[in-house]
Amino acid sequence: MPSNTAAFLVGPGKPLEVKSAEYIAPAEHQLVIKNSAIAINPVDWKMQQLGTKMFPWMAFPHILGSDIAGEVAEIGPGVTRFKAGDRVCGLGQGVPSPVSQRAASTGGFQLYTVVNEGLVAPIPDTLTFEKAVVTPTGLSTAACGLYLEDFLGLNPPSLSPTPACQTVVIWGGSTGVGINAIQLAAASGYEVITTASPTRFDFVKSLGATYAYDYKSETAVRDIITVLKGKAFVGALAVGQGSLEACYEITSQSEGKKFVASCMPLIEPPNGVQSKKIFGNDIQSEVGSMIWKEFLPLVLAQGKYTNAPESEIVGHGLEAVQSALKLQGVSSKKLVVTL
Ligand SMILES: NC(=O)c1ccc[n+]([C@@H]2O[C@H](COP(=O)([O-])OP(=O)(O)OC[C@H]3O[C@@H](n4cnc5c(N)ncnc54)[C@H](OP(=O)(O)O)[C@@H]3O)[C@@H](O)[C@H]2O)c1
Repeated sequence: MPSNTAAFLVGPGKPLEVKSAEYIAPAEHQLVIKNSAIAINPVDWKMQQLGTKMFPWMAFPHILGSDIAGEVAEIGPGVTRFKAGDRVCGLGQGVPSPVSQRAASTGGFQLYTVVNEGLVAPIPDTLTFEKAVVTPTGLSTAACGLYLEDFLGLNPPSLSPTPACQTVVIWGGSTGVGINAIQLAAASGYEVITTASPTRFDFVKSLGATYAYDYKSETAVRDIITVLKGKAFVGALAVGQGSLEACYEITSQSEGKKFVASCMPLIEPPNGVQSKKIFGNDIQSEVGSMIWKEFLPLVLAQGKYTNAPESEIVGHGLEAVQSALKLQGVSSKKLVVTL
């Protein structure tokens, strides 16, 4: 049995402690990934700083980390899509759930992570682990907001989408979630209106957005309301500071679906508008299968998906994770630690 090591968060505000951890064999429909690259998300450093103030159900010691890529070390009973040695990326469960206890073995910041096979995709030989690892959280969060029935409930994505002749607003198109949301919505046949810094307009348009506005501009909300006139509007996805307020205004002043799927903590919506907070790990449903089993393997194999934001390798080994958490927020790239 391999020997495992993990970066443990022993309490709120405490530095990560790297020490030996139990290697857990995979149960039914699970597999173990030997991690080669792990990525940092805002939720990781927020959980380290805030602990139970952020998630009252969080328990310690805890193993953070959601974005992982590496090789399959072992498969559990019932796993047929993978074999040991396959190159994969997957969604670790380092964000504690309010409804079910998550085992420490499912957190990403360790050498071996146990993952449900439905949250893993094979990656082609041409895609490095460092590049693939930026995708799992952004993709899963975007998919929850766009496809779950109690969110925007959009049509499924495909390689040859039928135009839906409908328009979705994705506020924060250059964020990790936004980059994936634009690609998914475009692959579902929707017209995308998004926001980003002007230097990234070409980038978000290359992902599939038709319109891009500067989220810092005082006229962005008004401009989007104007361009939405006469379009079949199916609602908005809010990502980034201030995005929820902007999406509320756009939605309340436009014809169409008055719903905002929010990555951000909720505030009271205006009259007639509904909103719901996305919990990226809610993807463990039929939407998860659609994205992780059907869509992602196909588009990755055909080189038709952009793994972004760009990764910035900030260290090697679990000891480097703590300094990576401290760097968070200083770069528009995704911080990655190799193992
Ligand atoms: N609820 C969930 O399940 C969930 C899951 C994942 C993330 N989130 C939250 O979503 C937010 C984004 O996280 P992320 O990891 O996707 O991306 P991120 O790495 O935080 O995105 C950074 C990029 O966002 C853009 N940006 C900065 N401020 C913005 C603003 N006020 N409005 C719109 N865009 C802005 C900037 O792009 P430019 O270069 O274009 O300026 C920046 O480069 C965080 O608050 C995170 O906690 C929630």
